[in-house]
Amino acid sequence: MNDHQILNFQNYQTIECIHQGKKSLVYRAQHISDNKPVILKLLRSEYPSFNELVQFRHQYTITKNLNLSGVVQPLALENYRNSLILVMADEGYISLDEYIKKDNSLSLSQCLTIGIKLTEILAELYHHRIIHKDIKPANILIHPQSLEIQLIDFSIASVLPKETQVLKNPNILEGTLAYISPEQTGRMNRGIDYRTDFYSFGVTLYELLSGKLPFETTDAMELVHCHIAKMPSSLSNRKKNPKVLSNIILKLMEKNAEERYQSAWGIQKDLETCLKQLENTGKIEFFEIGKRDICDHFIIPEKLYGRQQQVQQLLDAFERVSNPISSQLSVEKEEIPLNPPIYQKRSIRWSPHSTKSEATSGLPLSKGDGRGITQGTGEGLPGGTEGRSLLGEVQK
Ligand SMILES: Nc1ncnc2c1ncn2[C@@H]1O[C@H](COP(=O)(O)OP(=O)(O)OP(=O)(O)O)[C@@H](O)[C@H]1O
Ligand SMILES: [Mg+2]
Repeated sequence: MNDHQILNFQNYQTIECIHQGKKSLVYRAQHISDNKPVILKLLRSEYPSFNELVQFRHQYTITKNLNLSGVVQPLALENYRNSLILVMADEGYISLDEYIKKDNSLSLSQCLTIGIKLTEILAELYHHRIIHKDIKPANILIHPQSLEIQLIDFSIASVLPKETQVLKNPNILEGTLAYISPEQTGRMNRGIDYRTDFYSFGVTLYELLSGKLPFETTDAMELVHCHIAKMPSSLSNRKKNPKVLSNIILKLMEKNAEERYQSAWGIQKDLETCLKQLENTGKIEFFEIGKRDICDHFIIPEKLYGRQQQVQQLLDAFERVSNPISSQLSVEKEEIPLNPPIYQKRSIRWSPHSTKSEATSGLPLSKGDGRGITQGTGEGLPGGTEGRSLLGEVQK
């Protein structure tokens, strides 16, 4: 298929290609019979695999019955040659990614307004037990005039049974590396629940406010390591971003889901307080964040309580095995090893079930800022979610 070719479908006249991704092509088009503007998304491959078709259909299945103003509703899923076309109404929205690139001088109050709208959408998704798993500016649409916000691309979203309260998702490394939560990297031995979207939302907000990503490495493994082990630099040194806003983002981007916000409502209230202060006084004073952040159901934290001695033994053993000479020296010199040493050895995922090569191998590495590094189903990645990994166990 020639990407630049303006395709002619049976019922649609294509106008322009607006996205040529790794997997998909997106066109602005017109319905031939009634001239209605539409967006057509189709798979790039002429002969998509069964899994690609299932994933493509998945985004339609999830969104077709969701009647949410913040989610783009599909009009149809049509057969096209050996593949499928997702048809959506074209309401003049563009991606937030494109919007920032065009007009990267978003004011603080605009950032806050967009953030508040996004939290409303996240709250609606939570209500419907949907985890998006790929929140990022490219998957958020904005109307250039009204600044209304909508969410797209539910191809890796997960729908959890309504009766299940403990949310789990076994998929690993789905999403976009620059925005992916630590648990979604598959290297934390932690379940993925709705709070994974809060982390990616934090990265998105960070980018909106600062114009850059929190972790700007070009190495995929390094990026995974950053998400797991490094805190992003604070935004508050910038004149534009007050300390409290920086704290909100850092709370969203906490490594452990338990330490993040627990509800979209809680995030929304804090952002609204910021916006209100800004509108009333022109500045945002420090206030205690998370005060109205209440989770409406019980979640068992995935961390170890007690067992300090056993944890220390494991850490010592890890230090000895990973660096026998220096650990010998450090014992002689009575040096105290840096904590937590495992994270400092980059993001090695070790589990009692993994072989050495599994433990040290990892992502298909590629260069780039991670924005474009999207992952599929995670099939075939080592480690899986079975077994208790050392990383998960000692994680504080
Ligand atoms: N309904 C829509 N209205 C306007 N633009 C859209 C719409 N749907 C998609 N787009 C544009 O197409 C881009 C890609 O869409 P989408 O995120 O659904 O594809 P994708 O699955 O991420 O594709 P790939 O994985 O191949 O990059 C979006 O970032 C946006 O610019
Ligand atoms: Mg996308």
